[in-house]
Amino acid sequence: MDWRRYYQDRIVSAEEAVKVIRSGDRVVVGHACGEPQLLTEAMVNRAKELENVEVVHMVAMGKALYCMPGMEGHFRHNALFVGSSTREAVREGRADYTPCFFSEIPRLFTEHILPVDVALIQVSPPDKFGFCSLGVSVDYTKAAASCAKKVLAEVNPHMPFTLGDSFIHVTEIDYFTPSNEPIIELPRPEVGEVEEAIGQHISKLVEDGATLQLGIGAIPDAVLICLRDKVNLGIHSEMISDGVMELIEAGVVNGKKKTLHPGKVVITFLMGTKKLYEFVDRNPMIEMHPVDYTNDPFVIGQNEKMVAINSALQVDLMGQVCADTIGTQQFSGVGGQVDFVRGASRSRGGKSIIALPSTAAGGTVSRIVAKLSTGAAVTTSRNDVHFVVTEYGIADLRGKTLRQRAEAIISIAHPDFRVDLWKSFRRSVF
Ligand code: COA
Repeated sequence: MDWRRYYQDRIVSAEEAVKVIRSGDRVVVGHACGEPQLLTEAMVNRAKELENVEVVHMVAMGKALYCMPGMEGHFRHNALFVGSSTREAVREGRADYTPCFFSEIPRLFTEHILPVDVALIQVSPPDKFGFCSLGVSVDYTKAAASCAKKVLAEVNPHMPFTLGDSFIHVTEIDYFTPSNEPIIELPRPEVGEVEEAIGQHISKLVEDGATLQLGIGAIPDAVLICLRDKVNLGIHSEMISDGVMELIEAGVVNGKKKTLHPGKVVITFLMGTKKLYEFVDRNPMIEMHPVDYTNDPFVIGQNEKMVAINSALQVDLMGQVCADTIGTQQFSGVGGQVDFVRGASRSRGGKSIIALPSTAAGGTVSRIVAKLSTGAAVTTSRNDVHFVVTEYGIADLRGKTLRQRAEAIISIAHPDFRVDLWKSFRRSVF
């Protein structure tokens, strides 16, 4: 059958489409800003008719209504990353968290460790060959759609038609729901003095011609601002935001020295403003790939001078990094941190950087600690960590003994906490 007819025959409202969801199903929702908002809402509106539907999602940028109080027994959220809309539900036991490297999430679906009954995705309208682009989120969304028993797609003209390994043919989709909703946006973070100081330190570690991975938030934005005088930078990252677009427009990021995919910005998802979404639309410089490719440490390591920049909640004196829990509470997730730390380690001339403000809670708590809080998870092990950066400087841990590491790490703690850290260090076993 001609794909055009197939497509026309399967256009239904969101309410009609979600009727395929049955009690006991596992539903995977398209990631981050790519979330299909009409389908998700229509699914939640069926709460009273459904029991024990597992909703698997990673960074939930929408309202995450499926894990609000009152949804118990109808929906159970399985979070692959905890964010502001899902944190309370996880803390209160109304939702669960599954630890998993971002690079390995597609295999959870395709190898049927978490078999997918229904995938809810959002795509661009089809091109003249019948291919839709997964737009701002290729990541695990493509894998979930490839192995789901049913695929429901919201077709949205606002979804940028991104290029790369980012397509799904209409014949791989069961139902299409037209949508004209704006794509979810991520506002620009505020960069304060602390982040700016961290950005300045990191800029000293970034050589001209380096390839970068950065996450979201004020620290990555501050770093990008401090890189404006560099030349020939490249990007191989799990995501980008507006800050990278500005460095491309300024000619600082051109990918000319990249040893893998030269000239291309390689990513798996993006979050930002409408301006970014317009910038990536059919932009041949932007190459989107599934996350099991972008975040594979063996792929990342093929970029020479790969610099991975990630953040943390606590770092102890051995260099253990906690980036996803505050004590026993799940705060976020591992995401792609370890994928990129390890990828940068494999890279010739590569560097991995953990950057964090020295304190939290208005300066009352040191993030540099003698020991991680009781119950805290180690996100990145001490064996993997190279550089730790705070607003007070850079601690280079590679090749250092435990004693030397402790000295280096205390030297970048906030001065108010250094005496106590020294006391703890002297009492400790190493
Ligand atoms: N003790 C108590 N509270 C702490 C704390 C600590 N050690 N560290 C941070 N906090 C508080 C902060 O004060 C802040 O509170 P507020 O929101 O009330 O101001 C909150 O926790 C968040 O801290 P912040 O440093 O602002 O977080 P962030 O948004 O910059 O995110 C990570 C930092 C580490 C949580 C985030 O980078 C992450 O999830 N990393 C893991 C995933 C990853 O690295 N992926 C790859 C890149 S996308």
